[in-house]
Amino acid sequence: MPNPLAFPLWALGVLGQDKSFVANPILGSPALNRLGLHRGRVALAARAARLRRAWMADRLDPADRAALDRDGFLIRPDYLPGETFEALRREVLGRPLPAWEMRQGQTVTRMIPLTEATRPLLPLAVATVRAPRLDRLAGYAAGRAGAPIHFVQTVIAEPDRGEADPQTELHADTFHATSKFWLFLHDVGEQDGPFVFVPGSHRLTPERLEWEYRQSLTARDDPRPHHRFGSFRITAAELAALGLPAPRRIAVRANTLVVADTFAFHGRAPSARPTMRIELHGHLRRNPFLPWNGLDPLRLPGLSGRALDIHLAMLDRRARRGHPVVWTNVGLVRADAPPVI
Ligand SMILES: [Fe+2]
Repeated sequence: MPNPLAFPLWALGVLGQDKSFVANPILGSPALNRLGLHRGRVALAARAARLRRAWMADRLDPADRAALDRDGFLIRPDYLPGETFEALRREVLGRPLPAWEMRQGQTVTRMIPLTEATRPLLPLAVATVRAPRLDRLAGYAAGRAGAPIHFVQTVIAEPDRGEADPQTELHADTFHATSKFWLFLHDVGEQDGPFVFVPGSHRLTPERLEWEYRQSLTARDDPRPHHRFGSFRITAAELAALGLPAPRRIAVRANTLVVADTFAFHGRAPSARPTMRIELHGHLRRNPFLPWNGLDPLRLPGLSGRALDIHLAMLDRRARRGHPVVWTNVGLVRADAPPVI
């Protein structure tokens, strides 16, 4: 039985980024969704993102903006000058660094924060992810400028372990525009579990809005956990019914930058053999309803570049008290080491 005292928090969540049809019973209510609650949030967030993007558009390279507008993602090979990229690889891959790990089925994700705490160890990596051009791209793709969270991400697939990786299902991360970027430190081939993306699926068409509405009526009781939690999964047949193209595998060379709006349908291609990929990663997700850019509290002095440090310190404290946590502190580990957990 939900705790009615939490009602004000749920109501606030409806006005913000809350997406879970389980954790927030207002969002999960089939009756409210029949009245159009989810559909209204999706439509309003998309309208607000259009407005905020129009204000940001001038600050982008026209080719970058055209790619994001058309496809919902962009791919920039040879992103850094060759020598800078080699120096970056040496810096990131050279030694053990403070790391956290998460297991999802057969895939382990390792996170090495790129924050104020790790800047003395990884100055070039931190400077790279905080470059103004990347900030602008992340803001535009997210439909709202702000302070992204940055880390070195290692994705290790161990197909022998057998369990499915939930991120290999095509999905949207949430109900509104939100962005992620990756600067790949290695080549990722067709068979290495590359990123998969459905071009143009970031657009809120009438068909997509209707699909969102239909999902919202049953999402609370869907057997797929991430679907229940508001990150909708979509099947190949549904994609075709929405008039969307087949997913595209994004095989990349080392030193390629990919920026994407992950309201679009995307996933990780399943990998038949053990693979590891390492990338500088950023993500940006903000309240989708507020009609302005910037003014991100995470830019305030004292918080700037520290949000992830603070979050991980809280997780570590919870873990020490015996609570389950998503990210496990694994101490000092090389970015390219086998999984610890
Ligand atoms: Fe995702």
